[in-house]
Amino acid sequence: MGKQPAIALGTWAWGDNASNKYFGDTLSAETLKPVVTAGMSRGFNLWDTAYAYGKGTSERLVGDLLSAYPRMDYQLSTKFTPRMAGNGPHEMADMLAGSLKRLRTDHVDLYWIHNPDDVEKWTPELIPLVKSGQVKRVGVSNHNLAQIKRASEILGTAGIRLSAVQNHFSLLYRSSERAGIIDYCHQHHIDFFAYMVLEQGALAGHYDVDHPLPAGSERAKVYNAVLPQLTQLTAAMRAIGAKQNASVAEVATAYALAKGTTPIIGVTQEKYIASTLRSEKVKLTPAEITQLETLAAATHVDTKGFWEAPMV
Ligand SMILES: NC(=O)c1ccc[n+]([C@@H]2O[C@H](COP(=O)([O-])OP(=O)(O)OC[C@H]3O[C@@H](n4cnc5c(N)ncnc54)[C@H](OP(=O)(O)O)[C@@H]3O)[C@@H](O)[C@H]2O)c1
Repeated sequence: MGKQPAIALGTWAWGDNASNKYFGDTLSAETLKPVVTAGMSRGFNLWDTAYAYGKGTSERLVGDLLSAYPRMDYQLSTKFTPRMAGNGPHEMADMLAGSLKRLRTDHVDLYWIHNPDDVEKWTPELIPLVKSGQVKRVGVSNHNLAQIKRASEILGTAGIRLSAVQNHFSLLYRSSERAGIIDYCHQHHIDFFAYMVLEQGALAGHYDVDHPLPAGSERAKVYNAVLPQLTQLTAAMRAIGAKQNASVAEVATAYALAKGTTPIIGVTQEKYIASTLRSEKVKLTPAEITQLETLAAATHVDTKGFWEAPMV
């Protein structure tokens, strides 16, 4: 498996379909092909998905579009979602089998347990999947510090390392930092993947009070009501970014990079790839980080997802 890029690309929005309008996007293989081409040509070769994103819609698009490339040129990251599992004897192996089929591969580079519903029950099920070679690295998502430590211990009994943690982290949502999870990951050489760094567009710069998120989408229900509270923060991000020719979204991503995380940026348009690349060059000073964190705290906006539990 190749080196892990500094930024991973996310595909939850690719899961929007007729029965699921979370993002309110209209994406298809045709509209997403230029995104994949641009991403692959700029070294963004780690693609994060999940069966849960449109019950396979996202995985299918990822598999179809990436199958144009040699398998060794890209890394696939997908998830077992306990909340979507039934009561069968091999729920994780079965969900993975479906993912492998849709992703058109015989292995995934990273396999995650999507939420910590039952750490004792689900963590051991990763072990045979690693041993069979279907899974190269394992991670846990939305787990708190105690759950991360327990998952690591369970895997350790089989000589398997917990390789990564994937939690919500942005200027507006720093619970994993406050809970000591990011520090713990750094100390134990576990990669911390930060998701929703752009708060699904609310910290991307093009949505504001006058330009709300797409009407009728689930993300609009979450964020449109709080856009007025974000005005000062996004104005400061814009001003800080302007000094380096960077956009609001690029500052948001640079912030997550400055904290030593691997951001997963949800990409829906070709132009976002060049933008994501630019964010790697943006350097925020300690004073700028403090200014942004102070303004973010002053918004009093809580962006905890409906699927998340508090980390502290
Ligand atoms: N493990 C978990 O429980 C979990 C939960 C959530 C997300 N994730 C993962 O993390 C990924 C990222 O989260 P997300 O997709 O929900 O939200 P996000 O990355 O915070 O925001 C993505 C949205 O921001 C806009 N955007 C992206 N790049 C941009 C740029 N350079 N400039 C301006 N706008 C830009 C796009 O919105 P428009 O298309 O509207 O412009 C895009 O849909 C997901 O795709 C998924 O892979 C995991």
